[in-house]
Amino acid sequence: MNAQAQSASKSASIKRPLGGAIGTVRKGAELRCNTQATQKELNDFYMRELSSPGDFAAVPTTMEYKHILTVENEWSEYEQSRIDLNALPGNEKQFEEWYIELRQKHRKETAPFFDFLAEEASLAQVAFFCALEAHVDGKFDDIIALSQIGMSGDMKLALAENFWDEMGLGELEEMHTRVFVRAASFFNQQMQGHDVAALIPVAALKNGNLLLMYALRRQYSARLLGTLTLLEQTVPFRFSRMIRGMERHNVPKEFTYYHDLHITVDANHGKQLVSRVLLPLARDNPSAIRELCIGCLTRYEIEKDYYAGAKTVMDTVIIDSATK
Ligand SMILES: [Fe+2]
Ligand SMILES: [Fe+2]
Repeated sequence: MNAQAQSASKSASIKRPLGGAIGTVRKGAELRCNTQATQKELNDFYMRELSSPGDFAAVPTTMEYKHILTVENEWSEYEQSRIDLNALPGNEKQFEEWYIELRQKHRKETAPFFDFLAEEASLAQVAFFCALEAHVDGKFDDIIALSQIGMSGDMKLALAENFWDEMGLGELEEMHTRVFVRAASFFNQQMQGHDVAALIPVAALKNGNLLLMYALRRQYSARLLGTLTLLEQTVPFRFSRMIRGMERHNVPKEFTYYHDLHITVDANHGKQLVSRVLLPLARDNPSAIRELCIGCLTRYEIEKDYYAGAKTVMDTVIIDSATK
């Protein structure tokens, strides 16, 4: 174990117990960061921070930050208490092996939920999950834009290429946010009779807010890259299973297009992020490895909670369209 891993391990043994909210942060469920109200408050704040220039008056004032930063620190501490920071990788090679192992574990653990969407879920259940994503993922191109700040050289180019893909390679109607909105409108229509906003699991809000917090707070710039990479690399599997579910219910091609497109595009984004961003960063700045790992692990934990929360709602509320 290198010095960095030893020091991480030492601090972990003092205040970072493994495996969930029980331990240093005993009452996770009671913390405000784990409530709908607080996650909605954070999301509203982030949306105001990302206001369009025409909406400049909505941007938060300096006075408003004190409270939000306190909530964010509390949330970050909670998430850090849930992850294992023992024996983290200490160099580029170790990081690459660690990351591949995490990705494999991620696939294994998330597969049952996506197999359910592919093979068993009703149209309403598939639509609910797609509608949830629409509620939490509307600003992805801004997140990619923010991830480039401070970079230089090939790393910046890798993110610039990713950003240009998000811009639909210059075609207005191909901008990913626009394609996404068109697909979301179809899935929202399937949800008539359900108040999706009221059914959003807290973890779904956290899943979207984590990216926004990491993108908007510069001290988390390296964590953001870990989170983004795991997100992009896991899209092809997740979306291919979702498309199987959509096709089973004869969802028109124009509404499966967003997911279809990302199977290829995000496979490339993930690959580029690993080889041109994460690995060079780990090689040139070993002290950033711990941050990359925190970004990956936090995303992973929240994502698991998100899918579990979504499945619970599907099993208990979205059951009016019989499973086919
Ligand atoms: Fe995209
Ligand atoms: Fe992407």
